[in-house]
Amino acid sequence: MSANKTINLTLKIWRQKNSKDQGKIETYPIEGISTDSSFLEMLDVLNDSLVEKGDDPVAFDHDCREGICGSCSLFINGQAHGPDRETTTCQLHMRSFKDGETIFIEPFRSAAFPVLKDLVVDRSAFDRIIASGGYISVNTSGNTQDANAIPINKVDADKAFDAATCIGCGACVATCKNGSAMLFTSAKVSQLALLPQGQVEAKTRVLNMVKQMDLEGFGNCSNTGACEVECPKGISLENIARMNREYIAAAATEEKKVKSVGVAM
Ligand code: SF4
Ligand code: FES
Repeated sequence: MSANKTINLTLKIWRQKNSKDQGKIETYPIEGISTDSSFLEMLDVLNDSLVEKGDDPVAFDHDCREGICGSCSLFINGQAHGPDRETTTCQLHMRSFKDGETIFIEPFRSAAFPVLKDLVVDRSAFDRIIASGGYISVNTSGNTQDANAIPINKVDADKAFDAATCIGCGACVATCKNGSAMLFTSAKVSQLALLPQGQVEAKTRVLNMVKQMDLEGFGNCSNTGACEVECPKGISLENIARMNREYIAAAATEEKKVKSVGVAM
């Protein structure tokens, strides 16, 4: 085991008092940071020193600090969640940075994710996409069927599980030049579309979730694939292709229904 090493850094951090404030980058030198500490622990050290001086601490989102909640959301040196692959900001360690380095820290930027304060953005647009269809209707009155009673083939189960690992962080949106939420939405559609339990609402789900995604102001996918590269959970572009197939099939069914109603009239 190597001995604990410390590094000195210059932090360039986006400070913005509230959603109306224009905001600007402020510079903070910081010394004696253990390379074993996490990126958020490094920000905790900075905030302790700011509070001691009577200054406003830097606001940033976090909760689990173990890569599962999707709260942490920093753009670090121009990359969502920083330089390490498939790693959330809370799981990023200071050993990924060099002594004397300057680190730029900004919020996730997207028209659909307005900045609330400093590094905190409003990602409630994702909650509204989920509320529009990211669920299944199950009888929970006490007669629930054992989940294992429905056999599911391994390939589909694995793909559904992979899609379900999306933590809703928004790195895909922040990274995409179009501000597209297709990777997120397609993961949430896929995790249910691949399972028999998700079939009942499959058509309305994909139509409603895509509609809500558009209403929230997210951009369109142009297949650059940056979202997949920066996703901390390795969510595959394959999910976007699946969502497009699901959407086309559902929209065609809807169209047929409208036509048949039209004929009957
Ligand atoms: S698809 Fe990846 S980057 Fe996008 S919200 Fe889910 S976990 Fe985050
Ligand atoms: S704080 Fe929960 S994923 Fe980073």
